[in-house]
Amino acid sequence: MNFVEWTADMSVGSDTLDGHHQMIIDCLNALHPMLETDAPEAKVLAVMAKLEDFVLVHFSDEERDMKQAGYPDWRAHKELHDQMYDVVFSLKSDIERGEKVDAQRLFELIQNWLVTHILGEDRKYVPFLTSHTAKPVGQWKRSNGRDV
Ligand SMILES: [Fe+2]
Ligand SMILES: [Fe+2]
Repeated sequence: MNFVEWTADMSVGSDTLDGHHQMIIDCLNALHPMLETDAPEAKVLAVMAKLEDFVLVHFSDEERDMKQAGYPDWRAHKELHDQMYDVVFSLKSDIERGEKVDAQRLFELIQNWLVTHILGEDRKYVPFLTSHTAKPVGQWKRSNGRDV
């Protein structure tokens, strides 16, 4: 069973950004059971690398859409993105250097993302995005193999 399921009430009103959030949630669901077990570092690293790729594209697209939609707090929102990216990058770098996976930091990342950010901060820009037309994500695939 997944740690969290994406549901329609998590929608931010953009198919593209919703698709990104679903892919990020897929990564977090893949990471979650690794906290409880002695998962091989290579497995954790593979998910972290995918997560890093997803968030780089997602944050960039979301920031562009917020600005285009006239969301007034986009700078503060970008600051949160930068902080989360730093966490992903440093966790991934730790693993690449051969350090033991910091399960507590991974779990805090998951909680921060799901509870505070996607369900809290991201939903604040929804009213501004109503007239926004999102770009297709084309080459992206969900980690379970489904097309987005
Ligand atoms: Fe965001
Ligand atoms: Fe987001």
